[in-house]
Amino acid sequence: MALRSALLNVMVMAARKAARGLARDFGEVEQLQVSRKGPADFVSAADHRVEKLLVTELRKARPDWSFRLEEGGDIEGRDPSHRWVIDPLDGTTNFLHGVPHFAISIGVEREGEPVCGVILDPVKDELFLAEKGGGAFLNDRRLRVSARSKLPDALIATGLPFNGKEGHDLSARELAVMMPEIAGIRRMGAASLDLAYVAAGRYDGFWERGLKPWDVCAGIVLVREAGGVVTGIQGTGDPVGGGSILAANDSLHGALKTLLAKA
Ligand code: IPD
Ligand code: CA
Ligand code: CA
Repeated sequence: MALRSALLNVMVMAARKAARGLARDFGEVEQLQVSRKGPADFVSAADHRVEKLLVTELRKARPDWSFRLEEGGDIEGRDPSHRWVIDPLDGTTNFLHGVPHFAISIGVEREGEPVCGVILDPVKDELFLAEKGGGAFLNDRRLRVSARSKLPDALIATGLPFNGKEGHDLSARELAVMMPEIAGIRRMGAASLDLAYVAAGRYDGFWERGLKPWDVCAGIVLVREAGGVVTGIQGTGDPVGGGSILAANDSLHGALKTLLAKA
């Protein structure tokens, strides 16, 4: 890619540093699978370690910016118009079970709008990054959303609620309207990567309910900079704080919205 901005450089360096520890911890987790207690506490400690490291590194570069952290909550900085939105480990259930599909996700909001995103999958060594107006990239390759325009050709990702979450019936109805119309559904378990894969044209769309800002902030920038459309599931609304998201290429976004409305 062309010269990276100073901001993206800061984010990439922080993500890479954090990823080294996370990759080591993932190796440990595989050993812990067989223990009776399982690796849950270990994984939670790893998660918190990554978040702390990211806060330290990012604060060095932008001391005044605010934070929205999955584990640590909101930290108001002297500059409230800029906020880091961070999921230190997206795909925790995968990580916990030794499934190699998880990511570190770092987004930046300016005046509440997602403007910069870095998503790093340390196992596959895939670094997705985007900045408003500067395009979206996977490692050094420019990304574009897929050109598929027909539902029967479309591979669509989603996330499903699990124990302790709401909306099981609605999700079942959404799957029922979606399945007969499209080429396939994937539930891979890391929303940030689902969005990154839409940006990369691997998936043709993604929808999910009940997500939090740190799941989607970075991914939204990626999809938009790759030429895609991101809204709430009803086709309007704020996909960051609104709790539901629909991302797709321009041709499929409307058709997916219409299908989901039937659920
Ligand atoms: C989860 C993942 C998953 C999504 C869940 C999220 P976590 O994040 O992104 O794909 O379906 O709703 O909470 O807990 O692994 O950071
Ligand atoms: Ca998450
Ligand atoms: Ca997480």
